[in-house]
Amino acid sequence: MSESTELEGRRFPVPEELAAQANVGPDVYERAAQDRLGFWAEAADRLTWAQRWDEVLDWSNPPFAKWFVGGKLNVAYNCVDRHVEAGHGEQVAYHWEGEPGDTRTITYAQLKDEVCKAANALVELGVQTGDRVAIYMPMIPEAVVAMLACARIGAVHMVVFGGFSSDALASRITDSGAVLVITADGGYRRGAPSALKPAVDEAVGRTQSVRNVLVVRRTEQDVEWTEGRDLWWHDVVDRQSTEHTAEAFDAEHPLYIMYTSGTTASPKGILHTSGGYLTQVAYSHWASFDLKADTDVFWTSADIGWVTGHSYIVYGPLANRATSIMYEGTPETPHRGRWFELIEKYKVTILYTAPTVIRTFMKWGEDIPAKFDLSSLRVLGSVGEPINPEAWLWYHEHIGGGRCPIVDTWWQTETGAHMINPLPGVTSLKPGSAQTPFPGISAKVVDDEGNELGDDTTGLLVLTEPWPSMLRTIWGDDDRYVDTYWSRFGKEVYFAGDGAKKDADGDIWLLGRVDDVMNVSGHRISTTEVESSLVAHPTVAEAAVVGASDPTTGQGIVAFVILRGNAEDSGDELVQQLRTHVAKDIGPIAKPRQIMVVQELPKTRSGKIMRRLLRDIAENRELGDVTTLTDSSVMNLIKDKLPASS
Ligand code: WT7
Repeated sequence: MSESTELEGRRFPVPEELAAQANVGPDVYERAAQDRLGFWAEAADRLTWAQRWDEVLDWSNPPFAKWFVGGKLNVAYNCVDRHVEAGHGEQVAYHWEGEPGDTRTITYAQLKDEVCKAANALVELGVQTGDRVAIYMPMIPEAVVAMLACARIGAVHMVVFGGFSSDALASRITDSGAVLVITADGGYRRGAPSALKPAVDEAVGRTQSVRNVLVVRRTEQDVEWTEGRDLWWHDVVDRQSTEHTAEAFDAEHPLYIMYTSGTTASPKGILHTSGGYLTQVAYSHWASFDLKADTDVFWTSADIGWVTGHSYIVYGPLANRATSIMYEGTPETPHRGRWFELIEKYKVTILYTAPTVIRTFMKWGEDIPAKFDLSSLRVLGSVGEPINPEAWLWYHEHIGGGRCPIVDTWWQTETGAHMINPLPGVTSLKPGSAQTPFPGISAKVVDDEGNELGDDTTGLLVLTEPWPSMLRTIWGDDDRYVDTYWSRFGKEVYFAGDGAKKDADGDIWLLGRVDDVMNVSGHRISTTEVESSLVAHPTVAEAAVVGASDPTTGQGIVAFVILRGNAEDSGDELVQQLRTHVAKDIGPIAKPRQIMVVQELPKTRSGKIMRRLLRDIAENRELGDVTTLTDSSVMNLIKDKLPASS
């Protein structure tokens, strides 16, 4: 057996100590299965409602769901005020750390004051309930304050990741019709101030709806100023009253829009609403990570510009009165041990990050985390893509000290919260598998016709019952909502766009987006599976695999690999070795047609490998759109490696 197959067969039992005190035990699955709506109603009781709901779910007009019908609540009140009222005002909500090393500690009482002031400022600027507010900010506390201020007055926030271009910002402002942009002069990235305001100026200049731009001073860079339109945050917000009465809104009141790129060019504005969303993010944050509000220090390493940041830096942790870390910068600034230093300094107990980060740490070497005291950690999380067993094991050993369960969470911008993942006090873990639908969630693997498949088969992942934090529509485009997600298998089945395999135990393995699943000679092979195999080879740090069209086999497998620091690039010999390795690991059918050793892989700013671009190279096409690439010179580096003939 190969290394990766052996790993896939391994089980990691629940740590006894953790199980004994876990928030949820094994009975949770049965409870949810017996009375799904009752289970979600109980979860909703974790929140404070101004008016109780009449009906848990209205699914009379699928796929348009209403959860907690008739219920009213204020999301910001639930995230902040109620904890202060309950006597926890002195508890730290965020330990914030700027990239240059400046720090801020924000208690729940301080957060409440800041949110109230910002809410009053928004009202003064004429922002009304239902208006859209664009937020384009670095990872600073004002970003959270801005989101909560919107929620507090019933305005709909639309956060755009600060790494996106002015084009991306402009199209999102136009599509959402935002009346206000909240931004900053800039933020710190890789040791230098990185400007944001110029992109806002450019974007707003090309749109119609924005009346004001509210600017936080962070880097003290020079900024251009449009009198009458631009306002400093410190001028407008700081002088406001810390009193603001939170109005209760309908459970289905829109909370935010988050744009996500689909398979087509125009991004989709995923709409999330209030009561159901907050219920599921709060419950899942508590259950998936075994969150203990009084003692844990929780860190989601994402940017708030992504759904992971919305659900697990802001709404889930705050609704649960967690103490969180918020870090502005990149993992290698000023040195590659920066994250581990933060874990040691704040005694972080729960770390939630992405496989791509873990693989980067692997590339840098285990001696870096070994220099720090990481013994405070007790639960680890993973999100964003399937975590290959080698990265899982490395994470488990070199960050988790062999003691911490790894919760691999499958979900999407559209699902709002965790959907498939093990529970740390319940599930015996299988590296590489997300394993089990969350309690109260019905996930199935089906064939092309929508028939449910038995164990030990591969197919498409679908969700067969609505869930509280589900998207409600695509902003302004109900038809696209129905077409994209609810038409392939009928109006009551959500098509996730992911391939999945159920193993002999019924555990679910995510195989990547369906469009990334290759078909070679009529056999379905996952790009992820081949990548995982390549990464299992001692010389490989990272791998990306695409299916390139092939006249004989339908698709041929083309792999791009980055070698580990200590590995020698012996050219052809190494390539042959790797091809043989994969053929042995998975089967001859999975043997890559071509392997290219490269220095970098093209990634989006959220860290996803842009396979589309690699496919263009593999298929000898002109390069497609590279605007969302972190660094477009990466593509030239890769092209330089190609044989002259191609
Ligand atoms: C897609 C959703 C969920 C927040 C971050 C990404 C992939 C996500 C996993 C996982 C396997 C995963 C899927 C999904 N994905 N988490 N644990 N295992 N695949 O959100 O940008 O909306 O992307 O990411 O393909 O469909 P997103």
